[in-house]
Amino acid sequence: MSSQITPRGSDPQVFGREEGPLRAFCEVLGAKRVGSYWSLTFVAPAIAERARPGQFVTLAVDVGGATLRRPFSIASVSQQGPWAGTIEIVFSGVGQGTHWLAQRGKHDVLDLVGPLGRGFPLPNRQVPALLVGGGYGAAPMLYLARTLGARGHRVDVVLGARTAEQIYNTIEAKRAAASATFTTDDGSLGTQGIVTDVLDGVAEHGRSEVVYGCGPMPMLAGVARWAADRGLPSQVAVEEAMACGTGVCMTCVVPVRRKGQRRNVRACVEGPVLNGARVDWDAVRSPAMAQHELDEETG
Ligand SMILES: Cc1cc2nc3c(=O)[nH]c(=O)nc-3n(C[C@H](O)[C@H](O)[C@H](O)COP(=O)(O)OP(=O)(O)OC[C@H]3O[C@@H](n4cnc5c(N)ncnc54)[C@H](O)[C@@H]3O)c2cc1C
Ligand code: FES
Repeated sequence: MSSQITPRGSDPQVFGREEGPLRAFCEVLGAKRVGSYWSLTFVAPAIAERARPGQFVTLAVDVGGATLRRPFSIASVSQQGPWAGTIEIVFSGVGQGTHWLAQRGKHDVLDLVGPLGRGFPLPNRQVPALLVGGGYGAAPMLYLARTLGARGHRVDVVLGARTAEQIYNTIEAKRAAASATFTTDDGSLGTQGIVTDVLDGVAEHGRSEVVYGCGPMPMLAGVARWAADRGLPSQVAVEEAMACGTGVCMTCVVPVRRKGQRRNVRACVEGPVLNGARVDWDAVRSPAMAQHELDEETG
């Protein structure tokens, strides 16, 4: 069962009957562990048909006596074979909602809304693309890698995480891209360090002309600054805390600069994918940025 929803302030041309987000009660077709993450695949043909890399869904989670929604990037969409009409999410267990989700199994039915937000714009020329994913942000990057690969683009992927176990799906990364490079904080896989340490070498080798990113905010800030310093356009999927997910509550605002003016955009409708060069990273105040600044100050 599905029904159309219209985010407030959204363009009726974009969110018309054929393209807008839907609310649907979707059966779990597959549930599995992938490294340190969980993956859930849902039967969601109407959402799958409309989904684009970079968009997200919100899921109602039954915790604390209230049914609240949590946002998750769409990690893959299947339109062919026995899994046709399905979408997948990949997530980390961080709190009540995600731990509740991790206990869901085959045939459970969950309440989904999506696809939401603005996905990654695809280049209109066949330029080589550099895709950078941090933690579970790797999953939507691989969805984008497959999409760009199918359109004939050369794709180079860089995935980073704290440990090898938190690098999402190395096999799929190697399959989906011309090159896959991994970095870990502890050196347990690939280069010891952070993603920006290896970007110069990978971009030079792949002759990258566009950069895409998805992952923690401090990583996105680093990738966007790295790209801007080299005159490369970047598009990054920001992860700002969200309540409604549909443009109503203003919980998710991200500061951007346009023509010298600073203004706030809502990550759930004007994002989550934003032009990396426009985000005012110094003014972004997410918990992850605050933690990053604290870590830097305390060494
Ligand atoms: C557009 C978007 C896409 C996302 N995609 C994914 C995804 O693909 N996979 C995935 O695992 N997670 C993703 N997240 C983050 C995910 O929504 C949160 O981890 C989840 O809502 C936490 O719910 P909880 O009830 O388990 O935790 P809570 O009890 O709500 O919080 C537990 C901990 O998680 C932190 N937290 C809560 N929400 C967020 C958030 N939005 N960002 C960062 N930290 C948060 C809190 O600060 C707290 O430390 C995404 C978030 C956004 C906004
Ligand atoms: S989450 Fe409510 S406006 Fe974005």
